Amino acid sequence: MDCALKCVALLVLLGCAFSKISASLVKDDYEHCKNTVNKWASSSPDLEVKEEKHRLRDLLFFLHVPRTGGRTYFHCKHNCRLLVTHDDYSMMSRLPMEKTSVVTILRNPIDRVFSTYEFSIEVAARFLVHPNLTSVARMAGRLRSKQGGVSTLDIWPWKYLVPWMREDLFARRDARELQGLYSRSNDSYNMEDTVMPLHEYINDPIARDIIHNGATFQIAGLTNNSYIAEAHEVRRCVLKHQTLGEYVLEVAKKRLDNMLYVGLTEDHRESATMFANVVGAQARLDVPEVVLQQIKSLNILDMELYRYAQSSFSKQHKQMMRQLKLQEKDIKFDDPYSAASRNFLLFTISIILLLLFIGLFVKRRRTLKLKL
Ligand SMILES: *[C@@H]1O[C@H](CO)[C@@H](O)[C@H](O)[C@H]1NC(C)=O
Ligand SMILES: *[C@@H]1O[C@H](CO)[C@@H](O)[C@H](O)[C@H]1NC(C)=O
Ligand SMILES: *[C@@H]1O[C@H](CO)[C@@H](O)[C@H](O)[C@H]1NC(C)=O
Repeated sequence: MDCALKCVALLVLLGCAFSKISASLVKDDYEHCKNTVNKWASSSPDLEVKEEKHRLRDLLFFLHVPRTGGRTYFHCKHNCRLLVTHDDYSMMSRLPMEKTSVVTILRNPIDRVFSTYEFSIEVAARFLVHPNLTSVARMAGRLRSKQGGVSTLDIWPWKYLVPWMREDLFARRDARELQGLYSRSNDSYNMEDTVMPLHEYINDPIARDIIHNGATFQIAGLTNNSYIAEAHEVRRCVLKHQTLGEYVLEVAKKRLDNMLYVGLTEDHRESATMFANVVGAQARLDVPEVVLQQIKSLNILDMELYRYAQSSFSKQHKQMMRQLKLQEKDIKFDDPYSAASRNFLLFTISIILLLLFIGLFVKRRRTLKLKL
């Protein structure tokens, strides 16, 4: 009895001590993180707003946030040196900073997440013509040694997002085949049978790593693709302690202030066709409110950065465009948005059709083989 009591007391004591220790560890980590992030934020170069920031310099760096306008690109004829990449702002550490102008385009974060999801599936689904992942890997190896060029699959963030989605598509297809094509439920259009649902996608650790708040991180130079070594610890801290996101946001806003040009994908919507707008709006209605709210809360920094860009830049940017055109006739801003108006509904239908088609094709081939 006595012993039991003692034991219990001991356990309670131990438990107390343990939780104290872990609480203080958490606190220490927070303090450490706050210092790290603070130090990074205040030592970030390029935070003074430059005069003459709107003068076009020798080199133009288009910081291309993925899915801010599919075909957006600036192209240069002679004399103007242009760099278009999904690299983050840390790329500037490799460029002559004084001679470089930076431009970017931001998009409503919710639409950007949708578009990232759609594009991941679209690219990954192309591999479904293969019978299995082994065969995909073999072909990829062969192609790489043949062309040596850069494909979507070599580029961050697609080099992570596409293989992830591809594995998932194959796993779902295998599961369908295991269940047998005919004993399947009547609900043959059940999306979960064929592709990862949106809510699952946005909550995966990979999405947290590279999609959410992606614009803010890219402009701050804090993606997990950053060239700067210390960026990775800052990033870990910000992902762990949400309140530290404020520091990152401030850096990103100042960077925007210093850019030569900040465009908004949505500003070009006016020029998109009426049809696309109507269908797009309806497709949006199909996404449950809960999921929309979740996307917003996972992208709090991007939401705020986007609001900031909307209020600071939308008025400026038309005038800037005109000014730019006068300054440098060689730079063309192509209208990129005709293709950007893809929407959920059409997309969903086309994916289902594609999968069904591939399913039929594979089956048919097997049947043919049997006959032969
Ligand atoms: C993958 O597909 C190839 C080509 O059809 C086949 O030879 C191979 O045995 C398959 N591998 C597995 C693990 O199923
Ligand atoms: C499919 O629907 C038919 C008729 O509505 C029903 O009799 C059958 O049990 C259903 N099969 C499955 C697997 O749900
Ligand atoms: C970046 O994120 C991806 C996806 O989560 C991960 O696989 C990769 O290892 C990360 N890269 C670095 C340098 O942390």
